[in-house]
Amino acid sequence: MTDGPQTIAFSGMSSLPQGYRALVIGASGGIGGALAETLRGDAGCGEVLTLSRSGDGFDITHEASIAAAAERLSADRDTFDLVLCATGGLTINGKGPEKSLKAIAPDAMAMQFAVNAIGPALVLKHFSPLMPRQRRGIFAALSARVGSIGDNKLGGWISYRSAKAALNQIIRTASIEIARTSPQSVVVGLHPGTVQTRLSAAFSGGHAAMPPAESAARLLTVLDTLTPQQSGGFFAYDGSAVEW
Ligand SMILES: NC(=O)c1ccc[n+]([C@@H]2O[C@H](COP(=O)([O-])OP(=O)(O)OC[C@H]3O[C@@H](n4cnc5c(N)ncnc54)[C@H](OP(=O)(O)O)[C@@H]3O)[C@@H](O)[C@H]2O)c1
Repeated sequence: MTDGPQTIAFSGMSSLPQGYRALVIGASGGIGGALAETLRGDAGCGEVLTLSRSGDGFDITHEASIAAAAERLSADRDTFDLVLCATGGLTINGKGPEKSLKAIAPDAMAMQFAVNAIGPALVLKHFSPLMPRQRRGIFAALSARVGSIGDNKLGGWISYRSAKAALNQIIRTASIEIARTSPQSVVVGLHPGTVQTRLSAAFSGGHAAMPPAESAARLLTVLDTLTPQQSGGFFAYDGSAVEW
């Protein structure tokens, strides 16, 4: 399977109730924006709410910002059927991914963990109580295949890779706890493919990259098919399970 552009029609989240409520965090991003737009075109979706740093001042590296957003968005109605965390960073504060061990810088590595692992963990902390208990609810965070330990053949990018690997463990651990109170929940990490966004622009070099709308449609189609038995897993845009 290549990441080359192709036409995929998103036929809607048929696994969620009519009039379902969705939240896209990181909707100012390439993939996050496409996820929100695609959901808004879904006839079954009642409400698509969004959060972003540039739009709302939502900063995933500050817990108070996440807690305040959860409190504000749950004021009218307290559950979300679908929460998508599409934030993330590869170049953060001007520091791109390292090519070698000698390039490791503690501050840059700590920021990678703050944005790509601790941030989504705090989103789980503050938003998982807003998942439905008696019916299906989906939480998905955008991870990356390069966070797979088993799939790591090239090395490099040690901070981004290890932060995404930590995110995968956070998702797996959270899924087990959330299933105790929300047995129909689906909590997963997703690999969106190589996608044409700001994040990938300087790095996708030789790889064919998908338009964000293509990735979004495929990711939502995958989420629609996942069962609670698959909660805690790591899935690519084509529906395949990614090894840990
Ligand atoms: N593009 C790819 O090829 C690719 C491949 C594998 C995985 N991914 C993953 O997919 C996710 C989305 O990436 P993308 O390609 O859509 O990148 P993007 O266009 O650069 O979007 C990144 C998003 O993250 C948000 N963000 C970054 N730092 C934040 C912070 N401290 N607080 C709140 N929001 C913050 C940005 O918000 P603002 O713009 O508002 O600052 C933006 O909404 C990332 O987790 C990335 O690792 C992407």
